[in-house]
Amino acid sequence: MNAFATLLVAWQRSHGRNSLPWQNTRDPYRVWLSEIMLQQTQVTTVLGYYQRFLERFPTVSDLGAATLDEVLAMWAGLGYYSRARNLHACAQTVRERHGGEFPRTAAALQELPGIGRSTAAAIAAFCFAERVAILDGNVKRVLTRLLAFDGDLASSAQEKKLWQLATELLPAAEDMIAYTQGQMDLGASICSPRAPQCLLCPVSELCLARAQGEPTRFPVKTKK
Ligand code: ADE
Repeated sequence: MNAFATLLVAWQRSHGRNSLPWQNTRDPYRVWLSEIMLQQTQVTTVLGYYQRFLERFPTVSDLGAATLDEVLAMWAGLGYYSRARNLHACAQTVRERHGGEFPRTAAALQELPGIGRSTAAAIAAFCFAERVAILDGNVKRVLTRLLAFDGDLASSAQEKKLWQLATELLPAAEDMIAYTQGQMDLGASICSPRAPQCLLCPVSELCLARAQGEPTRFPVKTKK
């Protein structure tokens, strides 16, 4: 395995987050619900909403059978309400077109309402150990720094390149859960936007941005 994945996986298992309520489950409904809520909302805020949603809607079919108004009422306070509309549309689709079972590949998950490429990959990695890359904002920061990737991420060609590099770094299937969570954990804690704590970083010796002396130069993104 590549050195980055080896170090990150070991660090995630010993120092990462391993007890959040959406971890230690392979139920795609639970993982999907958490990933949608966490897209623009902090973990501490999500916790209460996540629990209430699961109590009221124990399965994706329960959520799909609810009215949009009820879902929006339960979402109130989380913001970005298109997420709630897509959540409901996705649950309806899984209930009505997939017999209440989420598809089991990233490619098929990405066809569902509100599930983009990175969210589809997160669900497929966490639930089915599929070898697919995630690339949300935190992971873009981690990987552009690791690689000193200075392509402008406002350019879709450069973003495509970074997806390709992210795919080349993937470990074996058995390590995909720790690896995927590890990238999120590193980006949320040590590899922060403005003041990365490189002295605590498990991959600092591999990090090309750190070697260049200016980790916060990455990611490069001009305004469109
Ligand atoms: N943000 C997005 N996905 C997450 C996860 N699985 N754990 C913690 N924070 C997240």
